[in-house]
Amino acid sequence: MLKSFNRLFEKTKPIADRCRGDAATKLRLKFSPYYHVIETQGEGMEMTERGGRPTVMMCSNEYLGLSRHPDVQRAAQEAIDKWGTSPCGSRLANGTRAYHLELEEELAAFLGKEACHVSVAGYMAQLSVLSAIAQRKDAIIVDKSIHASLWDGARLSGADIERFTHQDMASLRALLEELEPAQAKVVVIDGVYSMEGHIANLPEICELCDQHGAFLVLDDCHGFGVLGREGRGTADHFGLADRVELITGSFSKSLASTGGYIAGDRAFVEFLRSSSQQIIFSAALAPAATATALASLRVMQREPEHIAKLWENTRYYQAMLQALGLDIWESPTPAVPIVIGDKERCYFFWKSLMDQGFFTVMSISPGVPAGKDMIRTAISSLHTREQLDRFGDALKIAIKKSGYRPMAA
Ligand SMILES: Cc1ncc(COP(=O)(O)O)c(C=O)c1O
Repeated sequence: MLKSFNRLFEKTKPIADRCRGDAATKLRLKFSPYYHVIETQGEGMEMTERGGRPTVMMCSNEYLGLSRHPDVQRAAQEAIDKWGTSPCGSRLANGTRAYHLELEEELAAFLGKEACHVSVAGYMAQLSVLSAIAQRKDAIIVDKSIHASLWDGARLSGADIERFTHQDMASLRALLEELEPAQAKVVVIDGVYSMEGHIANLPEICELCDQHGAFLVLDDCHGFGVLGREGRGTADHFGLADRVELITGSFSKSLASTGGYIAGDRAFVEFLRSSSQQIIFSAALAPAATATALASLRVMQREPEHIAKLWENTRYYQAMLQALGLDIWESPTPAVPIVIGDKERCYFFWKSLMDQGFFTVMSISPGVPAGKDMIRTAISSLHTREQLDRFGDALKIAIKKSGYRPMAA
């Protein structure tokens, strides 16, 4: 057995060496702050980790807490009863079902767009858009803090990638002015940046895109369900849905499911359906995931109390963090970073919170800009006042244990 394993390892040595790695990699995996297992999920944000330790989830993207909503759960169960578990095929071939069209029509109308395409993940939606819409010799102009899925899509397209400083309109303007007027240009932004929580300056970006004839792609994974009328997102928040060519998003945040969408003029959406490799050669979204997203979309519109509670919690939480002197990078949204500023201190801060029963994510450079190493937290409508207060007490201890110096109030 061992002999045959060693033979296999010898055969694949260059790749096996890379994967098995050196001592540092092994150590990193052993003490990794990532891939923590949640063993059971209780009420709301209460969970237990493997080993039985209770923890309160402080970084879920479940902004509206709909994954336990009875209407949403029932819709998922009924979809399985009616359709089984998978369409077993791509949308282009044999995988398109009536439930996909139902969700696409409702989402398009909700977002104020002509058409919509539903993908298996937000990541796939973003990847499909950029890799298909742009090509060699085009320019893709991106905010440096866009999500990884957009970077990958931009790289796959073969276009030139130009980066502007995060949220810096002068930097975007300068880039657009330098480019050849005849060159096809695609500007790419997030509506709400997932790490920073910042809201894009959409009015100025739309102006600049109009002036320079640039096509605008807006990833609204964290704006959808959070901003705008009934959660229509960042474009609606600014009343600018008709000025953004394509809006993409995810069902894995406010819609309590998995999957993603691309919404825009029918011509753009149909172009993607006939030219995106990811859409053509990947299976369609499963029935339960689609039904969950649709049921959540309807609940979101019917029960405004979930968004109201999300914002009530967010305001309370942000005020609490600021009173403790923590740097939240001026996030105005429920995605709230606690900027620590150096990796080692960040680790001890995160570890102290984890040991006290609070689950957060440590995000360090190069995932975030150097000097912005942070604890990522995200607020949900499900958080109780008592949990937020207990987290405040845990933060006081983490501040002491990590040696973090609070900002002057
Ligand atoms: C800004 C942003 N875009 C895209 C994605 C990918 O979405 P999904 O998880 O549905 O693949 C995420 C997920 O975290 C995100 O935060």
